[in-house]
Amino acid sequence: MATQEVFKHDESRSSAALMSDQDIIARIFDHIDNKTTDVGQSSWKEPTKNYQSAERLDAELALLRTRWVVFCPSAALPKSGDYIARDTAGIPLVVVRGSDGKVRAFRNACRHRGVQIATGQGCTNVFVCPYHGWSYGNDGALRSVPHKEGFPDLNKENRGLVSVDCLEKNGLVFIKQGPSTNGVKDETDLPDLIPDGCRVIKSETFEIEANWKLHLESALEGYHIRSTHQTTFFPVQYDNLTVVESFDQNSRIAFPYQAIEGLRDKPKSAWSSNGRITFVYHLFPNIIISTFPDCMQVVILEPLGLELTRQHMFLLSDCAEEGKILHAILEGQEFAKAGAMEDREVVLGAQRGLKSGANEFLEFGLFESAIGRFHAALTGELANLAS
Ligand code: FES
Ligand SMILES: [Fe+2]
Repeated sequence: MATQEVFKHDESRSSAALMSDQDIIARIFDHIDNKTTDVGQSSWKEPTKNYQSAERLDAELALLRTRWVVFCPSAALPKSGDYIARDTAGIPLVVVRGSDGKVRAFRNACRHRGVQIATGQGCTNVFVCPYHGWSYGNDGALRSVPHKEGFPDLNKENRGLVSVDCLEKNGLVFIKQGPSTNGVKDETDLPDLIPDGCRVIKSETFEIEANWKLHLESALEGYHIRSTHQTTFFPVQYDNLTVVESFDQNSRIAFPYQAIEGLRDKPKSAWSSNGRITFVYHLFPNIIISTFPDCMQVVILEPLGLELTRQHMFLLSDCAEEGKILHAILEGQEFAKAGAMEDREVVLGAQRGLKSGANEFLEFGLFESAIGRFHAALTGELANLAS
């Protein structure tokens, strides 16, 4: 369709070219003064069948399995033996920091008869399969087999857990399940988003009965601030005022708070985004990293079905373990959660709207360019995958 073919974002560039806090704030003042916002070059029409087709979802999951994707922040696995087990793009995995400090990823299936050797998260030097008790070190090696005389041909050396590519970079743990299909692109080449010294001060998982893309879309534009967040974000932010940048297939959307006005009288060199702007980084395809005062959220959207998404959220901060700042952060998160519940309602509404059959496409306007850009990239990547 024509709008898709001509869709281009005029700001595509590498992460090194993201604007400084000072330049972003100057642009925001310009928008406030002129009652404007950033706009893309064209709108995007996404066919509703792309949210409803099982074949399309399978292709999206297959794409997720060919890329380096964020599994969790490094701070979620601070000590040797710390592990997280969960499905990623439909595949059960366990990611663990070994006794040597290295983070490794494995398919979460015993090499005897396939039962999962880990669930949830915890800390261990040895994973013991609950079925017959085969045990594995946190480096994946098969350590012991009860009554091993029953397996006269077993070679322990080649029956360790099956590894998955894993690397730790800039405070994030990435995994890649299969061979890349996109040539030389390195999806882990990202700005350094996680400050040193961060720890996880809260983590939570919830499910939403909606397609993962509908859920993602709600985070990538400020056009809905007044309507959806009338008594939460709108009184302290701005309606439809964002700065949208793109780098590679990713985006960064700046949502200013009205407190930014306090910077007008300060020298530009003292302008800082902390406490004045929420940055939402969309790391293509399914990761959102958002900044809040003195903390940040790393969110991973796992598509579980056409109408079911699991969200994993890690809240990170480098603040002290007790004290006023931590208290203020947790209070701020309650406020953010109230806004997130409002998003949830409209996302569920959009999911029901698909069933109505009213729309052949969902239209993302000029203010929603980060979403159009996401769909353009996804369409392109799926075409590459199919060819
Ligand atoms: S399936 Fe794991 S020990 Fe048998
Ligand atoms: Fe929202």
